[in-house]
Amino acid sequence: MDVLVIGSGGREHAICWALAKSPRVRRVYAAPGNPGIATVAQLAPVAANDIQGIVDLADQLRPGMVVVGPEAPLAMGAVDALAARGHAAFGPTRAAARIEWSKAFAKELMMRAGVPTARYEVYEDPEEAQAAASSWGGPVVVKLDGLAAGKGVIVADSPADGVEAVRELAAYSAQAAPGGAAHGAPRFILEEKLEGYEVSVFGISDGRHVVPLVPAQDHKRAYDGDEGPNTGGMGAVAPVPRLSAEEFATIASTVLEPAIRQLADEGIPFVGTLFAGLMITAEGPKVLEFNCRFGDPETQAVLPLMRADFAELVEAACRGGLDGMTVEFERKYSACVVMAASGYPERVVTGQPIVLPDAAALGDDTLLFHAGTALREGQLVTAGGRVLAVTAIGDDLEEARGRAYSAVHRIQFDGAHFRTDIGRAATG
Ligand code: AMP
Ligand code: GLY
Repeated sequence: MDVLVIGSGGREHAICWALAKSPRVRRVYAAPGNPGIATVAQLAPVAANDIQGIVDLADQLRPGMVVVGPEAPLAMGAVDALAARGHAAFGPTRAAARIEWSKAFAKELMMRAGVPTARYEVYEDPEEAQAAASSWGGPVVVKLDGLAAGKGVIVADSPADGVEAVRELAAYSAQAAPGGAAHGAPRFILEEKLEGYEVSVFGISDGRHVVPLVPAQDHKRAYDGDEGPNTGGMGAVAPVPRLSAEEFATIASTVLEPAIRQLADEGIPFVGTLFAGLMITAEGPKVLEFNCRFGDPETQAVLPLMRADFAELVEAACRGGLDGMTVEFERKYSACVVMAASGYPERVVTGQPIVLPDAAALGDDTLLFHAGTALREGQLVTAGGRVLAVTAIGDDLEEARGRAYSAVHRIQFDGAHFRTDIGRAATG
């Protein structure tokens, strides 16, 4: 089978790498991909958000399956458009992807399905939202309803900060990107602030059944010790040592399964990866958000631990054949360290030459995934905020961390910055 993967980040590199390893896969195509992806896939110059271009490409390549990586094309209806032309696609329809593109929809769905989440209120009028924030009586989390590329959430520690947060998000939504929060009037969600630690769990679903993958932990802040601005994610580990087997089972039975069942019952079956972002609180796991796709960089930590055939899993999801399926993982740990460009996440500097060690010199337990890289006159250069993701596997997290950082120290580009504490909190 040939597979077409849509996207160009570190996540898509990990997806292409895992598919290319499968004996079921003859050729992997990626659109638009990146220079790292080009080592495991054939690239096609079609942008991820060019839905017509993707459908035309699928018509031409006739892949057995299309895997859509990022949320934007899913929210724009890429899977609907592919299905209308008879292409099997891994990813939710626009209607099912709403679980990510509308936080208010996700919250209402959780209420109907009985999924544990923070107490919340939804406001359409920014002045009413400000009034509610000022009388919230404690820390309040303010969220914009819609895709906002990680910029739609502000955790406010006082009512005054909450009021300011509504003002900031209202201003942001006024100039938001297409397919995002700018669609219709902005809506604001005020939410109780949850305490605990965060975990990401991916559930692979065929629309009715859901198979959870090993849990992962992202590191969202830019600097060591969880300081600095929020980012797309500066690193990840998997599995999460603090999360007990019992808590993990609770996430499957109280979050993933009821959400998938509720969507199916409402006539919008979800096929693809349901990503639960959770807070593990004293009262148990509660959902912070759902995403309709794999996470970045969690995917770069999770897929290298998978012993099962990833292509078989994805194919089974597309065919409606996940009932009773389990996915085997190595009993090992992985650590993924993101190397970011100078200025990330604010004013990113691109075009810096990158020096990489020889692939063979990295060793079997270390993988290098490209995210924001490009080739300029044959020279590999930085081309985005998150440039590379280095994943290493070990028998424990310490070993995985050690291996990942030893590779990171052999990679060079001007202004490179990375966190030095990925997985440190997880190891205690
Ligand atoms: P979200 O996009 O909804 O996951 O929010 C982004 C980040 O904001 C999360 O990863 C959390 O760190 C934080 N966050 C969101 N909602 C809450 C909440 N109810 N309580 C505490 N932190 C939150
Ligand atoms: N790492 C968080 C995300 O992919 O949304």
